[in-house]
Amino acid sequence: MRFWTSPEFDDHEQLCLFSDVETGLRAIVAIHSTALGPAAGGTRFRIYTDDSSAVDDALRLSRAMSYKSALAGLPCGGGKSVIIGDPDRLKSKPLLHAYGRFINRIGSTFATGEDVGMSVADIETVREVCPFVGGTSTVGAGDPSTHTAVGVMHGLRAVLECRFQRDDFKGLSVAIQGLGAVGWGVAERLHAEGVRLTVADIRRANVDRAVAQFGASVASPETIHTADVDIYSPCALGGVITEQSAQAIRARAIAGAANNQLASQKAGEALAARGILFAPDYVINAGGIISSLEEYFKMPGRNGSAAVPLSQRLALIHDRLTEIFHRAASERCPPEATAEQMARELIGRLPVR
Ligand code: NAI
Repeated sequence: MRFWTSPEFDDHEQLCLFSDVETGLRAIVAIHSTALGPAAGGTRFRIYTDDSSAVDDALRLSRAMSYKSALAGLPCGGGKSVIIGDPDRLKSKPLLHAYGRFINRIGSTFATGEDVGMSVADIETVREVCPFVGGTSTVGAGDPSTHTAVGVMHGLRAVLECRFQRDDFKGLSVAIQGLGAVGWGVAERLHAEGVRLTVADIRRANVDRAVAQFGASVASPETIHTADVDIYSPCALGGVITEQSAQAIRARAIAGAANNQLASQKAGEALAARGILFAPDYVINAGGIISSLEEYFKMPGRNGSAAVPLSQRLALIHDRLTEIFHRAASERCPPEATAEQMARELIGRLPVR
């Protein structure tokens, strides 16, 4: 396994590996940058094929968190944590407590919250032994996935204006991949706006519920990206857009919550070459981290944004995305390259391209 020479490493400030034999806990915490403040990033609990893919995932996700916080104007840096294993089989109160005690060791330079495989209730269990968590029902603004879904809707409005030259959703079609905490919230809101939905999820019950409640059409998780819709919204896991799959996408825009949707730089270039507008994931899905810092903003003298209500800070996702789309168009760059450039300028890192 390579660290310093890995393309994912990108001068991460810290990488921690934790294990606890008694509970079976194996966790990785990656801290990309604390240039703008303490690193913040969720905890992902999932099965990995091998150790290096878990490390790479943590590194990629934590760099994306640096970019996300910087572009959302937040006073914090980027980090991420992964717990390796099947959450349905491995997760237990003692394991979550062991995890919390490890996070305590890192101290105030890292704070975490929920992500795939971790619920708000799980984070509340971690909080019983560790203060460095946000986005619980008692800290921050509650379940971050609701705010992430609201943020995705703001981002989708920017996409509507820039790609479809309109400001309402009525009659549009959207394919949503993944009907979990965020994807479901996006589906509900789009349905209320008169959007025709196509959905896919590996959990059949989620799909059945969407058919019953929204009259959604069903696609398979493997082929939903090829659906004949206006917008494709990946809301499950990352890496779904490859150079190859980009060729099969029929939507005119891609805008969803999943982190790290592009499997490679070339995948993004393939989208741009085909005229498909891509909303950089760490910009459109910033609602969760914005809401998790709610308590921070309420503290007197902390930041000029304190006076700005959460709903307005979430709406800024629309403005930031619009700015990125316009700058990308004028520089003839894919939007994700422009977003990355803007984020690296904000955190004082050299451009990567
Ligand atoms: P979740 O675990 O609640 O939902 C994920 C859903 O995707 C589940 O219903 C799962 O069955 C489904 N799924 C998994 N693999 C799939 C596949 N191959 N095809 C179709 N469906 C599949 O997770 P959550 O919280 O909704 O997050 C979704 C994505 O958004 C993740 O990539 C996460 O990192 C990202 N995100 C979430 C935030 C939040 O506030 N929860 C914040 C920012 C990003």
